[in-house]
Amino acid sequence: MKRKVTKAIFPVAGLGTRFLPATKSIPKEIMTLVDRPLIQYAIDEARAAGIKEFIFVTAKGKGALEDYFDAAPELEKALRKKGKTDLLKELRATDMESGAIAYIRQREALGLGHAVWCARRLISNEPFAVLLPDDVISADKPCLQQMVEQYAETGGNMVATMEVKPEEVSSYGILSVTQTDGRLLTVDDMVEKPALEDAPSKCAVIGRYILEPTIMNRLKDLKQGNGGEIQLTDAIAQEARDGGKVYGYAFEGKRYDCGSKAGFLKATIAFALEREDLKDDLADFIKQTAAGL
Ligand code: G1P
Repeated sequence: MKRKVTKAIFPVAGLGTRFLPATKSIPKEIMTLVDRPLIQYAIDEARAAGIKEFIFVTAKGKGALEDYFDAAPELEKALRKKGKTDLLKELRATDMESGAIAYIRQREALGLGHAVWCARRLISNEPFAVLLPDDVISADKPCLQQMVEQYAETGGNMVATMEVKPEEVSSYGILSVTQTDGRLLTVDDMVEKPALEDAPSKCAVIGRYILEPTIMNRLKDLKQGNGGEIQLTDAIAQEARDGGKVYGYAFEGKRYDCGSKAGFLKATIAFALEREDLKDDLADFIKQTAAGL
């Protein structure tokens, strides 16, 4: 059955250890690419795809993330007084309607599948999206919107996918593909972080999913998988093996792995170079610096 996707889960409970010491006091999702927190990119993408309810699966120490979505009346007042209408507009664009956001706590770090399952009561019997904010995707049409449009035709479960280098295969969920039709891949199995020799393809899962509510039931009974964690990949793989519809969607766009320092820096540079107010100065600096290497 095809229904509109209006709910999205954002798993943001991770400790962000790769960004210590910064993440000792700031949640990774608040770290900024140019001047916007990482999470804002995922929120904007979800909104563009028609998402109305935003469910954050958080953990201890993520208070700053909750505050980020609060109204900022003093700040707005100060900006208004100073006539800074542009900044005011920027700020307003990040406003979230009251009741649009829900926070759920994941009490133990038991894996991505478990984090998603923590939101089961808010999802009830509807299809839902999952966005991993570490995967930042720059595209003419936002990635989730591309997928929602495809989902409107095909239904089923859908994961964003792209081909990765052989040495990267063991860092991703990998798809077993039976058929390719343009950007749409039909999937009959998936493996979480396989060794290269066991990998059914080089088509990696990137952190955008549209899932049927049945996935929640599968997560409930799932045993620990790769790394001793409850894996979302395993629940979707079960669905595929049982004959459920599972697709990969080879999205148009460039993906940055902002879970790694190098990826975060690349995204920072790429987004800054897209900005009229920054690009000339920054491009000069990069050229000069690179010339000296
Ligand atoms: C998660 C998923 C993995 C997926 C990846 C995409 O892994 O478990 O299947 O390929 O995100 O970024 P993580 O990077 O959180 O270990």
